[in-house]
Amino acid sequence: MHDEQLKATANRMVANGKGLLAADESNGTIGKRFEAVGVENTHENRRAYRELLFTAPDIAEGISGVIMYDETFRDTASTGASFVSLLESADVLPGIKVDEGTEPMDGSPEEKVTKGLESLSSRMPEYAELGAKFAKWRAVITIGEGIPTDANLTENARRLAAYAKICQENGIVPIVEPEVLMDWSNGQAECEAVSERNLTHVFAALRAADVLIEGMILKTNMMVPGKESGETKTPEEVAEATLRVFTKVLPPGLPGQMFLSGGQSELEATENLAAMHARGPLPWKLSFSYGRALQKGALEAWRGMPENVPAAQAAFLHRAKMNRLAALGRYTKEAEAKA
Ligand code: 13P
Repeated sequence: MHDEQLKATANRMVANGKGLLAADESNGTIGKRFEAVGVENTHENRRAYRELLFTAPDIAEGISGVIMYDETFRDTASTGASFVSLLESADVLPGIKVDEGTEPMDGSPEEKVTKGLESLSSRMPEYAELGAKFAKWRAVITIGEGIPTDANLTENARRLAAYAKICQENGIVPIVEPEVLMDWSNGQAECEAVSERNLTHVFAALRAADVLIEGMILKTNMMVPGKESGETKTPEEVAEATLRVFTKVLPPGLPGQMFLSGGQSELEATENLAAMHARGPLPWKLSFSYGRALQKGALEAWRGMPENVPAAQAAFLHRAKMNRLAALGRYTKEAEAKA
C-alpha cells in the first residue's frame, strides 16, 4: 500500500553519500556520555544538547536523517518548535528508535533478545502521526563460548522482521539493525563468520515475513576484531572482510546499508568506510548511521557550556562531512586536517 513512499524515503536516506545521525541514546546511555564530559543528566541538558546538534548550520549537507529517542521525538526546542518540525524545515528526515532495549534470552541468559514487539502495533500509528519517516530496532548479538546460538539468531531475526513489517504497514521505513558487538576477545575472522550467519538469518526472516526489501535500510556492523582480542586490522582489511560478507548475503534491491560505529573511534569509523569505497564502485549504497563516531568531538567541545555551542556544532559538522566524503569515495587526509 505504501510501497512507493517507502522506496522513496529509503532511497533519500542514502542519497548522495549522506548518512544518519544516531542521537537516540536512551536517557541512561546519554547519561554515561554526559558524565564523561562533566555534564549533569537533566532533561534541560539533554534538550540543549540535541538542539545544538539538530540546529547545526547546513546540517542537511551531510545528514539525511536523525534517529531520536522517544523523549526527544516528542520534545520541543528552546524556540518552542518541535524537534520533528525543526528537522523537517532543515530538510532532514525525523526517525525514532522503537525497541525497548534488550533482556536475557530464556535458557541462554548471556545472549540478549530485544523487547518491545507486543506494544508495537499500537504505538506505530502514533509515531507516523507525529511525523516519523523511519524507525530503528536494534538486536545485539554476543560472541562467546558456544554463542551466539542458532536459537538466539533466529529469535532476534524473527523480531526484527516482525517489527519491519509493522513499520511498513504504517508507511515508515524500518532500519533493521542486527549488531554483532565488538566488545569481546574474538578475532576478526570470528566476527566475520558470526556476522554472515546473523545476516543470513535476518534476510531469511525478512523474506518469510514478506518485508519489502526495497523499502528498508540495513544497519549492521563492520567486520572488526573484538576490543579485547589484541588484534588490529587496517581499514583495508576491515573493508575486504566486510565486503566479502556483503557479497554473500545482501539481497538485490536493498536501498542501502548504513553502518553503526559500535565503539570505533571517530577516525576509524571514517577510514574504514572510506576504504570500502576506495575499492571501486560498489553494488550497494554503503553509508553511515553513527552515534558515538559523530558525536564524541562535539560532546567534548560542548561540555554543557552555551558559549561552546558553535565549536561543538563545528566538530559535529566536520565529522558528518568527512563521513559523507568517505561514502562518496572522496575522503582524504588533507580534507580531514582542515578541521
Ligand atoms: P554507535 O555508532 O555509537 O554504535 O551508535 C549507533 C547506533 O544507533 C547503535 O544502535
